[in-house]
Amino acid sequence: MKQHTLLKDIEHILYSEEAIAEAVDKIAKQITEDYRGKSPVFICILKGASVFFTDLIRKVDLPLSIDFMAISSYGSSTKTSGVVRILKDLDESVEGKDVIIVEDIIDTGLTLSYIKNTLIQRKVNSISIAALLDKPERRKTELEIDYKGLVIPNEFVVGYGLDYDEKYRNLSSIGVLKPSIYMDE
Ligand code: IMP
Ligand code: MG
Repeated sequence: MKQHTLLKDIEHILYSEEAIAEAVDKIAKQITEDYRGKSPVFICILKGASVFFTDLIRKVDLPLSIDFMAISSYGSSTKTSGVVRILKDLDESVEGKDVIIVEDIIDTGLTLSYIKNTLIQRKVNSISIAALLDKPERRKTELEIDYKGLVIPNEFVVGYGLDYDEKYRNLSSIGVLKPSIYMDE
C-alpha cells in the first residue's frame, strides 16, 4: 500500500498498525471475559477515541450497546486545564448499567476523572475505564485504568484518532510529530 502523505510530518512512529491491533485485541478479550453474562454500555469519548472505539467494540463478544459523549477541556490543544464542559451528552440513561468508558489517551487524568465522577453520580451499577494509551509521567490525579493498551513517554503523539489541531486522526499508526510542525505556528 502507498505510504500516507501525512507521514512526512511524523518524526518517528511509536506504535505500528499491527502493534495497535494486538493491544486492542488484548483489551477486547479481557473485557469479554470480565463482563460475561452482562450487557455493558461502551461510551466513546469523542473525538479522539472514535478510531479505537470502533475497532474495540467489534472485537468484544458480548451483547453490548454504545453511546457517545463529547467534551471540551478549556485551554490550548496541547494542555488540559481539568475544567471540562459536556458538549454532547449521552443519548440514553446509564442508571443501573455497567459502563465502560473508552478513551484514547490518559494524560494528566483530569478529563477522565471528571467524566467518571459525573457518571457515578448518575447511579451506574459499575464503571470501568479502557484507554488505548497511557502517559503516566504526566498524571496529576490518581486514576485507575482498568484496561490499558500501550504506555507512551511524555511526548505529544498523533494518529489512530489522536490529533494535533484536528489533523492526523486518520493515520493508522501512532507517532510523534516533527517539532517543525509546532514551530510553524
Ligand atoms: P487529560 O488526561 O485530562 O490530560 O487529557 C486527555 C486528553 O488530552 C485526551 O483525550 C486527548 O484529547 C488530549 N491529549 C493528551 N495527550 C495527547 C497527545 O499526546 N496527543 C493528542 N492528544 C492528547
Ligand atoms: Mg480526547
